[in-house]
Amino acid sequence: MRKKFIVGNWKMNQNRESIEHFFQTLNIDSATCETWIAPQALHIPLLLEKKAKKQILVGAQDINENSNGAFTGENAAEAVLDLGATFCLVGHSERRAIYKEGHDLLNKKLHHALKVGLITIFCVGETLEERNNGMTEAVLKNQLTKGLKDFPNDELSAARLVIAYEPVWAIGTGEVASPEQAEEAHDFIRKTLSTELDLSGEHIPLLYGGSVKPSNAESLLCQKNIDGALVGGASLKGEDYSQLAEIASKPMKL
Ligand code: PGA
Repeated sequence: MRKKFIVGNWKMNQNRESIEHFFQTLNIDSATCETWIAPQALHIPLLLEKKAKKQILVGAQDINENSNGAFTGENAAEAVLDLGATFCLVGHSERRAIYKEGHDLLNKKLHHALKVGLITIFCVGETLEERNNGMTEAVLKNQLTKGLKDFPNDELSAARLVIAYEPVWAIGTGEVASPEQAEEAHDFIRKTLSTELDLSGEHIPLLYGGSVKPSNAESLLCQKNIDGALVGGASLKGEDYSQLAEIASKPMKL
């Protein structure tokens, strides 16, 4: 059975005091799931210091596709790794929608992050309009085939890939996909990874994201093809994060 993941995406939130409070109220000592957090890049060193004995992996919410150079305001994957962080997100819907990041750029970022040695959570998901027009599968297939184009055919790269399915209409809206909707999309993604990209989809963790919270996590996490959650709002508080980790650590009936 694949291990479950709780990945917090803190977006542009938290400060020194709230991070302090997060760790004071965090209780994941008995959690057996993977517990990861992507804070603002500026907070990565603070989190690495705070997590101390807690088994948390720290990552970045985005990276630049270049190693270094005149790219004011950007963060290099090399610098993220150098600080001691281990993963990054690529293609979050807020990067796609607000910063207009397209397939080619995201593909470059993915290749760069993997080459540098960061585990990469590649995010995909349809808008409400696309879902209502029956385009969900076409959109997911397009995002996967273009974003993962020329994916390196080696074991190390495959081991560094995680996919997050985040329907745009469920992000930060409180409107969560039903377990059936999420499972259907995950099943499609897993099959697409094998058939279109020749990746052994069986071993790649697939996370669901979009308004996950302690009250709805179990029904999502017990789905066959849902290996974990990418959580925004509900990952900001130590108590909620701990509850999510506890739920993800339970043996699930499939
Ligand atoms: P949300 O965000 O849990 O606040 O909906 C999820 C995400 O954007 O990763």
